[in-house]
Amino acid sequence: LPFELRANPRPRSDAERAAIMADPGFGLNFTDHMAVATWTSADGWHDSAIVPYGPFSIDPATAVLHYAQEVFEGLKAYQHADGSVWLFRPEKNAERFVRSANRLALPVLEPDDFLGSIEALVAADAAWVPSTGEQSLYLRPFMFASEAFLGVRAARRVTYCCIASPAGPYFAGGVNPVKIWVSMTYTRAASGGTGAAKCGGNYAASLIAQQEAAEHGCDQVMFADAAEHQWLEELGGMNVYLITADHELITPELSGSILEGVTRDSILDLAKEFGLTPVERRVSVPELLEGIGSGFVTELFACGTAAVITPIGELHLRDDVYTVAGGGTGEITTALRNTLLDIQYGRAEDSRGWLTRV
Ligand code: COI
Repeated sequence: LPFELRANPRPRSDAERAAIMADPGFGLNFTDHMAVATWTSADGWHDSAIVPYGPFSIDPATAVLHYAQEVFEGLKAYQHADGSVWLFRPEKNAERFVRSANRLALPVLEPDDFLGSIEALVAADAAWVPSTGEQSLYLRPFMFASEAFLGVRAARRVTYCCIASPAGPYFAGGVNPVKIWVSMTYTRAASGGTGAAKCGGNYAASLIAQQEAAEHGCDQVMFADAAEHQWLEELGGMNVYLITADHELITPELSGSILEGVTRDSILDLAKEFGLTPVERRVSVPELLEGIGSGFVTELFACGTAAVITPIGELHLRDDVYTVAGGGTGEITTALRNTLLDIQYGRAEDSRGWLTRV
């Protein structure tokens, strides 16, 4: 699909952009353009372009507003010291977007078109790619049922869009350890459900549990599986890892209800550089709590595109608090995080071919 630029006639001034980028926060500010494309069952994908950023006009009967037929992605563009701009493993997001779309009965946007839309958007808004600190341009491709129709079936009109947002750390505390609330009330996804798809509904289902976490002074919720409520799945919006005293780097295996995180996958690959054995297996909540209590679990961290690698300092289960790594940031967590960021920001060699230049 062609993503030609229809330039915004009223882009933000250099001063406005500089003010935003001085303290972008996460997901609060957006660039001057967005990528769009429309799909209809009759004509397939068409009307693709890079257009001025702005609101959609939505009919109240638009299917996504009623039945949540929607999928999304998250990836980042990084500026290197020489001014060049790079994407991190964008083909992984493109492939997952196809899998998510299939699960939600949405049309396939070919990976080349997904990548083409992102590259064209980043090129148009290159001035919005942060060059300082650990900031990046967070990219949010998404696709939703835009047919105005109340019957429950897959929409015959679908809108694709990608927006871009200059972003700092996801958690307000930056890279300080976060507190996690283990939900005993709610689950995120069940076998046969949409847990492995990146769809809005999964996140909607996590919000009340996330609120429960916040009410208990925690930053994120940790979910267990829906069948036995015993096996670790993931956090509200990110995957989870533990490190053990015998140098295993363990993450819950992909159960069909866990999101296949790109950062999760990258960390499995980086493990050996740190003398760690990567392990994907089932981990039970009691095993985790016992391991923390006995000191066998030495570090615990959350990971995702938005969260990068964020240390977990405390796990809260009902009234009990389990402190990991003395409530601080473990050495290996710090080293893994730095290695990942060094690759993303071009400070270390990209020996795996993870970066794509825009
Ligand atoms: C991401 O990590 O990119 C996500 O989509 C998760 C969300 C918490 C922002």
